[in-house]
Amino acid sequence: MSSKKSLVSITDYGKEDILRILHLAQKFDQNPNRRYLEGKVCATLFFEPSTRTRLSFETAINRLGGKVIGFSDAATTSSSKGETLKDTIAMVSNYADLIIMRHFLEGAARYASEISDVPIINAGDGANQHPTQTMLDLYSIYKTQGTLDNLTINIVGDLKYGRTVHSLIIGMSHFNPTFNFVAPDELKLPEIYKTFCDEHAIKYTEHSDFTEEVINQCDILYMTRVQRERFTDLMEYEKVKNVYILRKSMIAHSKQNMKILHPLPRVNEIQQDVDDSPKAYYFQQAKNGMYAREAVICDVLNINVE
Ligand code: CP
Repeated sequence: MSSKKSLVSITDYGKEDILRILHLAQKFDQNPNRRYLEGKVCATLFFEPSTRTRLSFETAINRLGGKVIGFSDAATTSSSKGETLKDTIAMVSNYADLIIMRHFLEGAARYASEISDVPIINAGDGANQHPTQTMLDLYSIYKTQGTLDNLTINIVGDLKYGRTVHSLIIGMSHFNPTFNFVAPDELKLPEIYKTFCDEHAIKYTEHSDFTEEVINQCDILYMTRVQRERFTDLMEYEKVKNVYILRKSMIAHSKQNMKILHPLPRVNEIQQDVDDSPKAYYFQQAKNGMYAREAVICDVLNINVE
C-alpha cells in the first residue's frame, strides 16, 4: 500500500491542519480555477443521496482540471448484485487517484481507507461524521465572524443523528466555543459528545424550547433538518419532524452580525421569508463548500498550492 493521507473524521485533523485547510480555502475563494489536478482522475462514490456534497466536489475537481468518474446511485452498480464494499474500493482504487465516498454505514469511510491504495475523503458515513462539511462550516464561520475563537454557537434540531453536528462540535473544540444545544428529547445530543465537551472544558447548555432568548445569545445559529431517513419508526419521525421552525420575527433582536447556517437540504425548519435576511447565510455557506473541498482535495493529495 502506498503512503497516503485520507480525511475520514474531523478527529484526523488537529487545529493546525484545520487552519491550513481554511487558509487554502481562502486562496480558492479568491481564484477557484487552478489546474492542479491535470492528469488526475477522482472517483465520487455516493451510496446515499446528495446534491451539494457531490456536486461541489465534482465542481471542485473540474475547476482544478481533473477528471471525475463515479456514481450517484449505487443501484446502478455491481453492489446491487452483492459486490462487497471491500471489492468495490479495491477496484476503484485501481482506476482513480482519489476516492470521495458517501455511505449509509457508520465507519464505512474508515474501512475504505484501510483497504484503498489511494486517499479516501469521507463525504458522510451514516450518522457518524461529515468532515468536509465541517471544513466549509468553519470557513463560513471564519469568513462571517472574522475569527473562530470564543464564539457562541446554537445548534438546533436533530443532534442525535446529525453527522454535521457531531463533526462541527469536534472541529470547533479547538477554538473555545460556547454551545447551546437545542433539541427535543428524542433527538438530544448523544452522551459521547457531551462527554467530549466536558473533557475539553467546552461550555454548553441544553434546551428543549427554541426561544428568542437563546437565539439572542448566539453568533452562529446552526439549524439542522430532522432526517427522516435515519428513523426506523416513521411514527417517531412524524412526532418530531416540525418541532422547530425558525421564523423571521424570531431573529429580530439577535446579534447584529449573527449568521444562520444550515448544512442543507432544509425541509420546514427555516421559513422561506428568512432567506431575504442578511443574517441568512446558508446558500453562501454551500458555495463555500466548493472552495473548502478544493482545499481538502489538494491537501490529501499533497499538492502545493501557490
Ligand atoms: N450538506 C449536505 O451534505 O448536503 P447533501 O446531502 O445535499 O450533499
